[in-house]
Amino acid sequence: MFPKLRIMFVFGTRPEAVKMAPIIKEVEKFPDMLESIVVVTGQHRQMLDQVLETFDIKPDYDLCIMEESQSISQIVARCLNGLEGIILREHPDIVLVQGDTSTAFSAALSAFYHKKTLGHVEAGLRTGDKFEPYPEEMNRRLTSNLTDLHFAPTKMAVQNLRSEGFAKNHIYLTGNPVIDAIKMVVDKPYDLSKMVKGIDKNKKMILVTVHRRESFGAPMRDICEAIKEISLSYIDQVQFVLPQHKNPTVRETVSEILGDLNNVVLCEPLDYLPFVKLMDAAYFILTDSGGIQEEAPLIGKPVLVIREKTERPEAIMAGTSKLVGVKKDNIINEIKLLLDKPAHYEKMSKASNPYGDGKASERIVGAVMHHFGFTDKRPEEFS
Ligand code: UD1
Repeated sequence: MFPKLRIMFVFGTRPEAVKMAPIIKEVEKFPDMLESIVVVTGQHRQMLDQVLETFDIKPDYDLCIMEESQSISQIVARCLNGLEGIILREHPDIVLVQGDTSTAFSAALSAFYHKKTLGHVEAGLRTGDKFEPYPEEMNRRLTSNLTDLHFAPTKMAVQNLRSEGFAKNHIYLTGNPVIDAIKMVVDKPYDLSKMVKGIDKNKKMILVTVHRRESFGAPMRDICEAIKEISLSYIDQVQFVLPQHKNPTVRETVSEILGDLNNVVLCEPLDYLPFVKLMDAAYFILTDSGGIQEEAPLIGKPVLVIREKTERPEAIMAGTSKLVGVKKDNIINEIKLLLDKPAHYEKMSKASNPYGDGKASERIVGAVMHHFGFTDKRPEEFS
């Protein structure tokens, strides 16, 4: 009989929690073989706690690192310091990190310093530009270099890793666990009007999220000005709903430009279930988020990606998302196309799902068990 395999999950922001949650739940299915140690850094506070509650996850450790207007260096330094004691005390067999946040990179570095096996969920996404998105592109590239088991969500991610020289047998094509997460909640009933006041069902609702650091300043102002212009010229037909990220830099610009408009609803960040319901109720989505680019195609909602580059080209190739940049006039034109040209809207709103089949967590946990000799069988690839 093997001793139990100790799997340490480290995450700190809302999107990491959403994508790690189904993997933690999968580990719970093997209580005789696997043991999870859940460490949250608390890089996000309120936004993280909402997700933990939704998926009923109680962390074993919470580093509580969040501070107002924290710098990236502060995040990394506090994560490294906090994780050291926990890794030394818990002796995990493997540390799992997700994606490209500074929490993920710090935990990967800490695992390396303590010579722990590292698994990287959502490995292999790339834009090829060091500063787009910033600091995420380098966070994920550096993490790949520290990783032993790469869990790539798509074929393209596998190709990226292969072209950088990572060994084939250390890469598992798993699909993205965000699809597992959304499938866990999408059919649950929920009354949206409880959470978001002022939704007008007679208008086409455009859901907006913005938070990227590389958009701070002029691009963020341009994005907001574009929304303002559309809201004024389509005052009777359209309503924008914008759940605001907690980041004060984002809030300042958003409320200055959009705060006083009748058909723009600004609300607090939503819990995962109401947010999924809001996506479902939207006519289309305007976002710079990564996770939403993966979730929206599953529920057949067109996405305009307000960024210069994306590491998620699959939905763009499938025709359900479009990269529209951060220039005001272009954003306005693309919104108008979706509002005014039904054929264009129809084409973009077909449901397609290049990111997963809901079994990514099963494959990731299967791959970990395979790596440590708990099973001879390598998990079947996502296709
Ligand atoms: C972080 C990640 C980014 C990810 C995003 C998802 C880094 C450097 N950035 O960006 O990759 O896409 O999360 O949302 O890892 N705040 C709160 N409460 C919260 C969350 C944030 O008050 O629940 C405030 C804090 O004052 C903080 C600021 O928002 O200083 C920014 O948060 P931070 O984690 O530094 O970066 P994000 O922009 O959220």
